[in-house]
Amino acid sequence: MKLFIDTGSVAEVEEIAAWGVLSGATTNPTLLSKEEGDPGDILRRICELVDGPTSAEVVSTEPEGMVAEGRALARLHPHVVVKVPFSAAGLTATRELTSEGIRVNMTLVFSATQALLTAEAGATYVSCFMGRVDDISVDSAAVVGEIVDALGPDREAQVLAASLRNPMHAVTAASLGCEVATVPGKVLKQMLVHPLTEAGIERFASDWQSRPEFGEWLQGLVSQGEPVAR
Ligand code: E4P
Repeated sequence: MKLFIDTGSVAEVEEIAAWGVLSGATTNPTLLSKEEGDPGDILRRICELVDGPTSAEVVSTEPEGMVAEGRALARLHPHVVVKVPFSAAGLTATRELTSEGIRVNMTLVFSATQALLTAEAGATYVSCFMGRVDDISVDSAAVVGEIVDALGPDREAQVLAASLRNPMHAVTAASLGCEVATVPGKVLKQMLVHPLTEAGIERFASDWQSRPEFGEWLQGLVSQGEPVAR
């Protein structure tokens, strides 16, 4: 499962892209509304940092407006994927944008029926929300599982788990066969943590320090410099 970062913050993307685990990014109007600066500059910078699909969302509610905004957003950077909220108008706009070669991430998908329509309209990504489903006391894993099953193993549309609120949402999405999960920076950082990893690192460091000559040997090795030819 590919990991995208779900954010409008360039600083957050700069920090986490350095880990080398991000394949793309998603934004939405709420996330961008929290940021200072020109949204176009923010989106272009995120595209460069993740060097992969970066969703930018339309806000019109009629097909013509969605298509016009989608074309404009797609012109910002070749990595831009136009995010279109699910609706009949959104399906119409998705069909038009995809016929022009513009990739669409259809968002706010909460059911298998919506996912089937989304895939037929030609969307590249079907964004299935998890946290917002759990918030209304419905089992998000069951819903995402139904969507994955309904679209089938040979699907062209990729199931993108969105609205992730905790690391287990990411694990569940991967287990269910989602192609992508878009994860907030806070949750990506939570995914790093395990007390035994931290304890293990401390133990390796203190054992190594008990042999100062080994430290000098390693420093010598490092200073010899040349990368190994592979
Ligand atoms: C991303 O594509 C979605 O817009 C986002 O994951 C929604 O997350 P939220 O439900 O936490 O707002």
